[in-house]
Amino acid sequence: MGNISILKPILLVFLLFLLPHISIGNSTPSYIPVDNIVLNCGSAGNTTDMDKRMWIGDMDRSKFAPIEEHNQKSATSEAQSPDSSLETVPYMTARLSYSQFTYVFPVTSGPKFVRLYFYADSYSGYDGSLAFFTVEANSKFTLLRNFSASILANYLGGSKRLSKEFCINVEEDQKLNLTFIPTPSTASSRFFAFINGIEIVSMPTYLYYSSPENPSPPYVGQNVPFSIDNSRALEMILRLNMGGDWISPKNDTGMFRKWSQGSPYLLINATNPREPNLMLKYSAIPNYTAPDDVYRSAITMGPSITWNLHSNLTWGLPVDPGFNYLVRLHFCEIEPTITMAGERPFIIYIDNKTAEGTADVIMWSGGRDTPVYQDYVVMIQKTGVDQDKSTLFIALHPGKATNAIYDAILNGVEVFKLSDNNNNLAGPNHAGTLLPSPPSAQQPASTSNSRKTRFIAIGTGVGLFLALLTLACCVVVWKLRTSKRYSSYYPASKCWFWSDRNKGKSTRTKASSLPDELCRQFSLEEIKTATHDFDEGLVIGVGGFGKVYKGFVDDGPMTVAIKRLNPESKQGAKEFWKEIEMLSQLRHVHLVSLIGYCNDEREMILVYDYMSNGTLREHLYDTDKDSLPWIQRLEICIGAARGLNYLHTGVKHPIIHRDVKSTNILLDENCVAKVSDFGLSKEGQDDKAVSTMVKGTFGYLDPDYARRRQLTEKSDVYSFGVVLFEVLCARKALNPKLEEEQWNLANWARKCIDKGTLGEIIDPNLTGKIAPECFKVYADIAESCVRDQGSQRPTMNDVMDKLTFALERQKEADAVKEKVNPDGKETYTEVLSFHVSDTTETRRSNNIFSGHMSESDSGTWLTTNNTGMTYPSLDSDTVRCEDVFTDTSNVSKA
Ligand SMILES: *[C@@H]1O[C@H](CO)[C@@H](O)[C@H](O)[C@H]1NC(C)=O
Ligand SMILES: *[C@@H]1O[C@H](CO)[C@@H](O)[C@H](O)[C@H]1NC(C)=O
Ligand SMILES: *[C@@H]1O[C@H](CO)[C@@H](O)[C@H](O)[C@H]1NC(C)=O
Ligand SMILES: *[C@@H]1O[C@H](CO)[C@@H](O)[C@H](O)[C@H]1NC(C)=O
Ligand SMILES: *[C@@H]1O[C@H](CO)[C@@H](O)[C@H](O)[C@H]1NC(C)=O
Ligand SMILES: *[C@@H]1O[C@H](CO)[C@@H](O)[C@H](O)[C@H]1NC(C)=O
Repeated sequence: MGNISILKPILLVFLLFLLPHISIGNSTPSYIPVDNIVLNCGSAGNTTDMDKRMWIGDMDRSKFAPIEEHNQKSATSEAQSPDSSLETVPYMTARLSYSQFTYVFPVTSGPKFVRLYFYADSYSGYDGSLAFFTVEANSKFTLLRNFSASILANYLGGSKRLSKEFCINVEEDQKLNLTFIPTPSTASSRFFAFINGIEIVSMPTYLYYSSPENPSPPYVGQNVPFSIDNSRALEMILRLNMGGDWISPKNDTGMFRKWSQGSPYLLINATNPREPNLMLKYSAIPNYTAPDDVYRSAITMGPSITWNLHSNLTWGLPVDPGFNYLVRLHFCEIEPTITMAGERPFIIYIDNKTAEGTADVIMWSGGRDTPVYQDYVVMIQKTGVDQDKSTLFIALHPGKATNAIYDAILNGVEVFKLSDNNNNLAGPNHAGTLLPSPPSAQQPASTSNSRKTRFIAIGTGVGLFLALLTLACCVVVWKLRTSKRYSSYYPASKCWFWSDRNKGKSTRTKASSLPDELCRQFSLEEIKTATHDFDEGLVIGVGGFGKVYKGFVDDGPMTVAIKRLNPESKQGAKEFWKEIEMLSQLRHVHLVSLIGYCNDEREMILVYDYMSNGTLREHLYDTDKDSLPWIQRLEICIGAARGLNYLHTGVKHPIIHRDVKSTNILLDENCVAKVSDFGLSKEGQDDKAVSTMVKGTFGYLDPDYARRRQLTEKSDVYSFGVVLFEVLCARKALNPKLEEEQWNLANWARKCIDKGTLGEIIDPNLTGKIAPECFKVYADIAESCVRDQGSQRPTMNDVMDKLTFALERQKEADAVKEKVNPDGKETYTEVLSFHVSDTTETRRSNNIFSGHMSESDSGTWLTTNNTGMTYPSLDSDTVRCEDVFTDTSNVSKA
């Protein structure tokens, strides 16, 4: 002991280093308990624990001295084999007795936490293996029965420090009595009871008990609510901070609850968003409900763009069967990408039964960064081989909703056993009510029953101590350096994350099988350097999503395009993760490469290859750039078709781009076409289903899709057909400044084809440049792409082949012409004309976008005939329509 007290001050310093995540100068707690009694049994005078809490002794006429049976005096003793932890209070001394004894606590009325601390050891004259006893509260509740601390400690596989937490309501004018009753002795053994420490702390009246105003929690699987009235006692089984560190009692909201790490109970891989400095808004629940740090971290699956029946987050929690349990799930939407209700719906299963069909954190809490919790009661039946042990499964599955991120989130869990109709909470001895200590790697600061970190180096010499101190310092330095990283989302299973080791340069930790270069995470600092702090002079594009900047990363050599999404844009937020997920897995010479992203400080920034020649559109019209030669236009179209064909056929699950248009086809320095902007993309497989949300851009939107709301690859083919006409005619897909019948390019081009006048509406720059053989093939492809029925359109693969064929025809004709006319000045004089052989009504103009459009001061307003809905925009070409068509029956008659 002498040794310990000399080392103590040094060790305390050491511990402060070891636990850098425990804040030191704590602010005032949100809740101040009226009753706050900490009793150190078997001890005289006052002692302070490591958290500076003062424990009162129960000896020497202490006001908390126990009441005993006549002439059966209890004893006090120090533990015979103290372990080397610093955590001596209240564990090193005990009160023990062969007969029953009662502590009486004069407390105010209302619910109290009752925490019992045991040190599973032998004491002088008392063999620890003979401690079997029952603990009752107010002669009503059985908290423990025939309890053996040594059996439990063995079961837990290590620490002799054990604690149990209960919630008990104290009636008006009542005291709180705790009675320790040894199991009746047998002929061979004499059993005794003991206790090392007792803690009584008030809690807010309706923290866990149902209030008259608050509805009772649903009884899972029973279709009725289950009221937790204060005639019941509760036993805390688990209290977990999901995705974050353990939280020590002194960092609780004032009730001295300990929060453990949730990771040991998570059965599958997941991602772990953290926002350690987030300011939370307590508008849905009181601020004492749980510490901020519980809500500032979470476990999610990571955003997914595909709905999968089997994707889930599942936890397995060990419980005693035969009891009802209160399961409290804590939620807080902390991810910057989720801003509205309906964006991350999920389903909650408890004990494999549906507890919540549509869980939606923002719907419950009313907003982002707003904590909320949901309670459920579930009966865990005795089943299976082992009647004494059971696992309570909590599983979250993504909900199937259109326009949502397929994901789920959980920030914290509390599980309480509810006393049964006999007011009993006690389970059998050998079924531990706590898990074996989880592996130490996951538990830097112990989630077993000790309340503080155990430390084993005492007595093994200063040398070892110094070595550990050095190690601790390294840990601290490393923590400080990497702490910034925690503020960003790192999809541990999908991408990988980088840790900022030194400014600018990053070291990545790979957590995925994907190759490294696919998905780099930039710090905001790097992005600011690259864009000269978002210099307006570097803006190369502006859209509803935000701005695109030209940037220079890694000190100049690499030019990139930096897309900074508007953080308030709902659409942008979802598209952000979609684009990362899609692009980091897709590699193709005709797709724009995503280099990385930045999600620091709520920014949503995507970093792409820089396409020095901009968009296809800016080479076609409304431009001062040189007109593109016909051959080059064909090559660009073939490249874009290849990129789209790869999306449709080259990947495991076909991907539908959904927003093919000339501004989403970019050109690199060699004018090689690259398809970009996957924000609206969908993997095709589960979109055969009818969707309620129509997305795309007016002028390019497949009328068949808009009517039937069934998305297929053929919708991209339609849009691509519009691009082909755009390339040929050098005009906007939708131009309301023209005569009404010409507004919609696809419709107008088809009318011209019907009349045989397509050759008259081509780009004047192309006059005399297109070989008639090539023109016929090209016009045929373009016409077939924009046919009304998806089934009558070619596949992207056909389009690609035929465009290649058209290019060959052009080149052959050019070669022939070159022979005749070596100077190449000669033009094709033959009148370009094209007729499709079948003029059936399948091609008949049936486009729902022939609505009315009018100009107003604020830009173009588009009104569809069918719904009368108006859409403001600055440029009708870039209007994205979402759910414009509320009544499909109307639409199809258009
Ligand atoms: C908690 O909320 C109460 C009012 O509801 C407020 O007075 C108190 O300052 C808050 N505590 C903290 C720590 O924010
Ligand atoms: C111990 O603490 C209690 C409560 O804080 C106080 O009333 C009492 O005087 C203290 N006793 C000693 C010996 O310091
Ligand atoms: C608590 O114990 C005291 C003394 O043994 C007794 O007088 C009182 O009735 C008990 N109260 C309850 C609620 O059991
Ligand atoms: C108490 O528990 C022990 C160990 O589980 C068991 O052997 C014994 O029978 C129990 N005694 C009673 C009275 O339940
Ligand atoms: C939950 O996810 C895991 C891992 O992805 C999977 O093995 C398991 O089958 C899923 N469970 C259900 C019920 O879908
Ligand atoms: C409940 O779900 C868990 C986890 O998905 C599974 O391991 C267990 O077998 C299921 N139990 C029953 C009874 O279906």
